[in-house]
Amino acid sequence: MSEIVFRKILVERFGGPEVLRTVRATLPAPAPGYARVKVLAAGVGLTDLMARSGDYLLQRRTPFTPGYELAGEVVDFTTADTPAPSWLRPGARVAAALTRMGGYAEYVTLPLWQLVPLPDGLDPHTAAAVPLDQLTALSLLDTHGRLRPGDTVLIQGASGGVGRAVSALGAARGLRMYGTASAPGARKALARYGVEFIDYRHEDFEAVLNDREPGGVQAVFDHLGGSSLRKGYRVLAPGGVLVSYAASGRPGRMVGDTLRAAARVTLLNLRPGRRTALAMVPREIRADHARYRAALTELLALAHTGTTAPQITTAPLTEAAAVHTDLARRALTGKAVLTTDS
Ligand SMILES: NC(=O)c1ccc[n+]([C@@H]2O[C@H](COP(=O)([O-])OP(=O)(O)OC[C@H]3O[C@@H](n4cnc5c(N)ncnc54)[C@H](OP(=O)(O)O)[C@@H]3O)[C@@H](O)[C@H]2O)c1
Repeated sequence: MSEIVFRKILVERFGGPEVLRTVRATLPAPAPGYARVKVLAAGVGLTDLMARSGDYLLQRRTPFTPGYELAGEVVDFTTADTPAPSWLRPGARVAAALTRMGGYAEYVTLPLWQLVPLPDGLDPHTAAAVPLDQLTALSLLDTHGRLRPGDTVLIQGASGGVGRAVSALGAARGLRMYGTASAPGARKALARYGVEFIDYRHEDFEAVLNDREPGGVQAVFDHLGGSSLRKGYRVLAPGGVLVSYAASGRPGRMVGDTLRAAARVTLLNLRPGRRTALAMVPREIRADHARYRAALTELLALAHTGTTAPQITTAPLTEAAAVHTDLARRALTGKAVLTTDS
């Protein structure tokens, strides 16, 4: 097992897209319990942009390589105490959600527990768009939302990566859904999942829901923080839940806002009658490896059948800066995926 020389994207100082530099690195043979994976595709999300600009609570240090999700091919591995699963062999195609960033690379080393096999025939570019957004959607809907068919929910930012995943899985679960967004084409895209579109530039979601759902909704999924949390809590039905999973409403202030949102959510949860919850998927993955693997296996299978397959836009890994620029401008259709095999 020889060293592999490869390229990765490195952020050496926080800043704009221009700080995403392509550098060379080497990957030693894997330690026991680890595999080396040739990355075929890495998903891009708003979290990566936040981290790059120093605006993400869980990535406060440089240097680092962004990217929370990927699909690739196993190069080699070394087992530790437990035998390797029967599907694991060099060349096996896998997907993974990372618990620390690092996906924007041609090769990565990952613990064996983190690898989930791709269903035969699932395109790795599509697979790379599944892990983070769809595990987050599952966490919001099932772990924290505990929803039943026919329940009504509000999805903030329904046109985004996580928002689209919640909409797709919510449709599969028979939920009634409202979604805030502003992107061109969002109304049509959300209608596909039966989501009622609320254009947040022109409509106040609290006023819309008070009018159309006077009894309140069973869940609100919020990634904005600040006043949006207070308003989201107010539109809940008795027994409903407000799930906060980010505080990205004020770029440049997200670290402090995330801490304030966590405090607010914790305090609101002391009130009787309604619940609040914080969803932090990297932590949830670390806490229960078997559950993570089962969930991602199910999500990849669903994406393969087409029910929840994300719409993707691909670009070469070395174009990461241009992709960040486009994502910040909301100039991309679908989920951005960086590829190494094009
Ligand atoms: N807790 C976790 O474990 C976890 C996991 C994954 C992601 N996240 C976080 O989730 C957030 C979303 O990530 P993403 O990758 O899905 O981002 P994204 O694709 O960039 O989507 C962001 C969405 O926010 C919407 N938005 C912007 N301003 C809004 C407003 N005032 N009201 C309502 N919606 C608004 C945008 O809508 P338009 O473009 O239509 O205006 C867009 O749909 C990020 O903060 C990320 O860090 C958290």
